[in-house]
Amino acid sequence: MSAAASRASDLRGKNVLVTGGLGFIGSNLARRCVELGAKVTVYDCLDPRSGGNMFNIHDIEADIDIVLNDIRNFEGISAAVRKQDVLFSCAAYTSHPNSMTDPIVDIEVNCKGVMHVLEAARRFNPGVKIVQVGTSTQIGRMRHSPVDELHPEFPLDIYSANKTASEKYVLIYGSYYGMQTTVIRLANVFGPRSNIRTPDFGFINYFVGLALSGKELTVFGDGRQLRNVSYVEDSVEALICAAESPASNGQVFFASADRQHTVSELAAAIVSHIGGSIRRVEWPRDRAALEIGDAVISNAKVKDTLRWEPRFSLEEGMKKTGAYFRPVLSKYL
Ligand SMILES: NC(=O)c1ccc[n+]([C@@H]2O[C@H](COP(=O)([O-])OP(=O)(O)OC[C@H]3O[C@@H](n4cnc5c(N)ncnc54)[C@H](O)[C@@H]3O)[C@@H](O)[C@H]2O)c1
Repeated sequence: MSAAASRASDLRGKNVLVTGGLGFIGSNLARRCVELGAKVTVYDCLDPRSGGNMFNIHDIEADIDIVLNDIRNFEGISAAVRKQDVLFSCAAYTSHPNSMTDPIVDIEVNCKGVMHVLEAARRFNPGVKIVQVGTSTQIGRMRHSPVDELHPEFPLDIYSANKTASEKYVLIYGSYYGMQTTVIRLANVFGPRSNIRTPDFGFINYFVGLALSGKELTVFGDGRQLRNVSYVEDSVEALICAAESPASNGQVFFASADRQHTVSELAAAIVSHIGGSIRRVEWPRDRAALEIGDAVISNAKVKDTLRWEPRFSLEEGMKKTGAYFRPVLSKYL
């Protein structure tokens, strides 16, 4: 066990529910909670359009409870939320382009599903701490730099709009009902157990998949737009800090890295640490419409309030990502 893994944690012995726990972030979070001594239940419907993958938890299956069910099933989520101390709300319909072609599904999962989670908690376990995972794309195009938690939200796709709505539901359940709720907004998370098969879930993990297959990474335009990317272990630690701290209640935080990288730099880091090559092409029209330009996010609030610090550089994260995927690639591609 690593030094970080053995730190004293408020989650030791606690009951923790992770919706979306078979997906990328949820499974990494579930694993970390097990390491910290929590009793973990994963609640996931293994949506084939998502990054859900049983292999993500294959080596901790004996240590956790798995409920294969949908957050849209009120009875199911009501049963699962009872007796939990912490609920990490990671289940989502997570594709920006799919939310434009299937907007109703996106509302069903990202709005109605999260509302089911909140209602189940309010009725059957109002003392549970709820940590909702938000996304930096809720803000849309940057109006001032750096972006902080007070930046206006004008999302450019239905997924991001619904994540904005569900974030507000979570906060309202905190302010109106006095429940313990908080939101950690993440941005371009990469790392082990991500969905590397398709570009629909963000470019960075897709680039990792291409690199692992020795293929070309296609960079649109000049690739000079700035992005915040985070290695998944850092993101998971931010979610856990939020769960452990009463100071997070009623608050929204951006948990982003200390520095930004251009898309070209990110592609170069992937090629250098994992493989593949880079090809530059003109912007396709449909992708240009969703392009947000530069994104520069401040992590000052999360650092000050929750004492969270990102630990992994882009290079370290890429090395660890390549090392994880290489021997198990057939489980992901
Ligand atoms: N990956 C990122 O870069 C990123 C960035 C910002 C925010 N987020 C947020 O993090 C959370 C997790 O995303 P991820 O990247 O791990 O995606 P993912 O697709 O890998 O995981 C989502 C999981 O939710 C499950 N799921 C989907 N619909 C469900 C439903 N109706 N009921 C139960 N389970 C359902 C899927 O089966 C999957 O296992 C999401 O809330 C997403 O909005 C992710």
